[in-house]
Amino acid sequence: MTTLELHEKYVLGTYGRFPVSFTHGSGTELWDESGKRYLDFGSGIAVCSLGHAPPVMQQALAEQSANLIHCSNLYQIRAQAELAQWISDVAMERAGKTFFSNSGAEANDGLIKLARKRSFDRHGPNTEKVNIVTCQKSFHGRTLGGIAATGQEKVKIGFDPLLPGFIHVPFNDCDALRAAVDESTAAILLEPVQGEGGIHVATPEFLQTVDQLRNEYDCLILFDEVQCGFGRTGDWCAWRSILRDSEFAVEPDGVSWAKGMGGGFPIGAFWVADEYASHLGPGTHGSTYGGSPLASTVALQVLQSIAADRLCSSVVGKETLIRKTLLDLSLPLITEVRGLGLLLGVAFDLEHAGGLYDPEATVPLSIQIVAECLNEGLLVVPAGPDVVRIIPPLNVSEALLEEGLTIMQKVLTRFCAS
Ligand SMILES: Cc1ncc(COP(=O)(O)O)c(C=O)c1O
Repeated sequence: MTTLELHEKYVLGTYGRFPVSFTHGSGTELWDESGKRYLDFGSGIAVCSLGHAPPVMQQALAEQSANLIHCSNLYQIRAQAELAQWISDVAMERAGKTFFSNSGAEANDGLIKLARKRSFDRHGPNTEKVNIVTCQKSFHGRTLGGIAATGQEKVKIGFDPLLPGFIHVPFNDCDALRAAVDESTAAILLEPVQGEGGIHVATPEFLQTVDQLRNEYDCLILFDEVQCGFGRTGDWCAWRSILRDSEFAVEPDGVSWAKGMGGGFPIGAFWVADEYASHLGPGTHGSTYGGSPLASTVALQVLQSIAADRLCSSVVGKETLIRKTLLDLSLPLITEVRGLGLLLGVAFDLEHAGGLYDPEATVPLSIQIVAECLNEGLLVVPAGPDVVRIIPPLNVSEALLEEGLTIMQKVLTRFCAS
């Protein structure tokens, strides 16, 4: 059977998959079963921070797996504790404690539990301070907590009754946020840069409003940095990239990560500011695999490599190159290149779509463009019906960036109305 046939017969069809299967990769390059070469500007959806098969990960995996792959969280795990130390000292630059999970959705579930538990501990079992204000167009994962928090109807359909207590406001709408937050608010949860929802960056004003409301209503600020964190925007923390030129700073009470922190090895985490850490004591939360010796060792190696290779600062120059190249094309099809660092979205105007664009097709313009890029040997990722994401590895070279952008230019030209 072909890989496609095997998939169709044996794998649950929860994904619309492109008909290609990769056998190996190196850095930003990938090869499929037929030997065809691709450039990967998707990084497994913002996961492969260091590209494919990076030698430092291979070495960390080989060495650690020869010693100890797994050990229960019933015991001390040196690598887990060192990774947690790195997160507090280097990324957060604040005292706090970290819990390790296997994915982003689980990390967010942990943050939701933290917010509820803190209200319970402070106000007692009958407290009504349980609501979590989140944003429309957000994405927080596929667990029952994650889909309740997510501000997109499509992920919730068919799964009622949902976890109650989530209120969604339009992203970057300060008035709507003020109207939604009150004494019943346990936390405000948001992605500083929305990924799946189409690449939308929080405005400094929105973050400032979040900060003011925390002070007014004694709620927590929780940032979901699963997609935008750990270097992708040019800083360890995306909200710091947003506020880089601002006089104002915001410090969240809890942060979640996954994706890029493991460079492809499954790991997620959430960090809690020291003053709230005691709300999740023994028996309140757990994960069999979370923060295993292998996962922690590899993630620490990935993050230390991002630091050693100064990838955060290199991201800003690469962002400039991508923006300039795409905007210099002056294609009316492109309405905007938005986002931060190497988490960029190219937004399209359907009015100017033509050529290869099939308005009758079952898939939207973004997927049609992604499929054509794939034919031409470039992986990019859709983000909603009219946005394509460019999220290459943080260490992509300028030469490969230019090669990929040339493919994109060729493809986009084919989708322009003549
Ligand atoms: C912002 C954000 N949060 C949470 C998740 C869920 O992460 P995972 O798929 O690892 O559960 C994602 C995944 O795309 C995400 O982008």
